[in-house]
Amino acid sequence: MSPSRHHLVAPETLGPVTAEEARLLETLDLSRLPRHIAVIMDGNGRWAQKRHLPRVAGHRYGTRTARVAIETCARLNIEALTLYAFSVENWRRPKTEIEFLVQLLREYIRKEMPLLQRNNIRLRFLGRPDELPEAVQRETREATAATAKNTGMVLSIAVNYGGRAEIVDAMNAILATRNGHPPPNAITEDDLSRHLYTADLPDPDLLIRTSGEMRISNFLLWQIAYAEIFVTETLWPDFNRACLLESLLDYQKRERRYGAISPPAATAAR
Ligand code: FPP
Repeated sequence: MSPSRHHLVAPETLGPVTAEEARLLETLDLSRLPRHIAVIMDGNGRWAQKRHLPRVAGHRYGTRTARVAIETCARLNIEALTLYAFSVENWRRPKTEIEFLVQLLREYIRKEMPLLQRNNIRLRFLGRPDELPEAVQRETREATAATAKNTGMVLSIAVNYGGRAEIVDAMNAILATRNGHPPPNAITEDDLSRHLYTADLPDPDLLIRTSGEMRISNFLLWQIAYAEIFVTETLWPDFNRACLLESLLDYQKRERRYGAISPPAATAAR
């Protein structure tokens, strides 16, 4: 993926906006948006409990929030958006909730295909697919293939994903390329980056976590080394477009130093 930003967007590409969104858009510098945004969509269960609804109602409403975030990011020409939908640890939840989440994912893929195509989005899945039901694997493969020729934003949905599992998988992939012989050179950071699930994506510049928890929860452990972290108390189903724009504004207020004293010229210009 090219390191330069492709083309800039006009605020009207978002379509009709509320007064609050218009105010936020006016302040936002559309030439300095993050290239890659990663999101930990937390708080669906609490959202539902507050309304005396079953937890799964929160997940269902959460897909509506995801749709708005996906379309907004695509229209703002963000290069990559990565959503954490199901972690390797989530298998510890009650069986009925797991079944609901897996079913919701299948429904989601089918239902959102027109939106993805309309917005020129490439869909991918990050994680260990072989541990998912065969029918789900087939659907994720087909959806990936159906959007592979698009040229816009890369939407990655992390399903049966774990950050440590990803690093272990990358190590094993590297060993496989070396045919079991002892490697002549040590494994480098570049080698590892090239074998992660996110191999051709830039590292996230911004990690958003909803519902207030100050945790990474085994998400993109390697890739978020220099990401700006935005944690909001807002529960995921309530994370609307104005909240997303707020997080982008907050990101633009940060000074990114990458361990140096002042920001590198290339980053400052973006
Ligand atoms: C965390 O809320 C959320 C999840 C484990 C699932 C996220 C899934 C969705 C938003 C629906 C699927 C979305 C896509 C894009 C396919 P939680 O249940 O941990 O909430 P809690 O912390 O309040 O209990």
